[in-house]
Amino acid sequence: MKIAQRAQRIEPFYVMEVAKAASALAQEFAHTASPMIFLNIGEPDFTAPPLVQQAATRAIAQGNTQYTQATGLPALRERISDWYASRFGAQVAPSRIIITAGASAALQLACLALIEAGDEVLMPDPSYPCNRHFVSAAEGNAVLIPTTADERFQLTCEKVQAAWNSKTRGVLLASPSNPTGTSIAPEELQRIHEFVHSQGGVTLIDEIYLGLSYEEHFGHSALAMPGELGQSVISINSFSKYFNMTGWRLGWLVVPEALAPVIERIAQNLFICASTVAQHAALACFEPDSLQEYERRRAEFKARRDYFIPELNRLGLRVPVMPDGAFTPMPTAQTSRRVGALRLASPTVPAAAGILPLS
Ligand SMILES: Cc1ncc(COP(=O)(O)O)c(C=O)c1O
Repeated sequence: MKIAQRAQRIEPFYVMEVAKAASALAQEFAHTASPMIFLNIGEPDFTAPPLVQQAATRAIAQGNTQYTQATGLPALRERISDWYASRFGAQVAPSRIIITAGASAALQLACLALIEAGDEVLMPDPSYPCNRHFVSAAEGNAVLIPTTADERFQLTCEKVQAAWNSKTRGVLLASPSNPTGTSIAPEELQRIHEFVHSQGGVTLIDEIYLGLSYEEHFGHSALAMPGELGQSVISINSFSKYFNMTGWRLGWLVVPEALAPVIERIAQNLFICASTVAQHAALACFEPDSLQEYERRRAEFKARRDYFIPELNRLGLRVPVMPDGAFTPMPTAQTSRRVGALRLASPTVPAAAGILPLS
């Protein structure tokens, strides 16, 4: 069978391959006493809190399971808008929020709406590995710009300016980032977006880990940038990480007002809508009890980071920059080889989720 070039360009998402291998290993050792701690895939070990679970059960029992609008339940878009205002001081009209099947679908929709064949999109190296494939699936080319620990593995405005050319369509950033857990300083992000915007380009910023930010300086949404800047940036987010709902497949995209109908049209065709049950459940994420629980869990993740990173360093798995968010420490390459085996035998290590490169 002839496979499309587009499909041939797409590499496996190796963390999914590692997770597959790890679960095969877990089955093999299921009957032994040695504990297995998964350090492979980046997902919280917490599940959705009680009110969210109850809301899902209620939606099913009451038959609230028909398609929603392609942009999502209006009530959910409103709750997210309120959350931006109360948590990040950002004014985001519900009409700019599009509910998606996870950040993955949000990234796909944004790339399909904005990238022409041959367009270049700048992103830091390292980046979330799927990002270059979202760009490539839209027939664009990802341009990976090497970054250093001193730069917190993020792009600087100088690097963006130096790499910009007539084919460049924009930048794709993540803050905090996976795999480094490090964020871009708000003032640097503003400088980048000012430049990109002045060139007629787009700034896509994945804020999926923003809810899990541990340092006041970094915990700001790009959507809170002043005036036109905050209105023109495109932010990707999700219920997967802070809201502990990875397998529910729910996220969202915030776009400039004029782009919303374009994204809606694509979403209507490609997805119809995100999971209705998950959307009804997600309404309960914003109840005071749920938000309180999420904050307790955020504190727990921070405590794990504060324990885990010094211990990794002590083991010789040097983490060059203390992550300020998320849960994915990245030890330097030469030492990480020692983590070739996925089983870590100590029951005293907290069950921190994390990605450790295998070679
Ligand atoms: C930076 C980043 N963006 C996007 C995603 C995809 O998340 P979702 O589960 O919302 O599709 C992930 C998942 O690990 C991620 O780490």
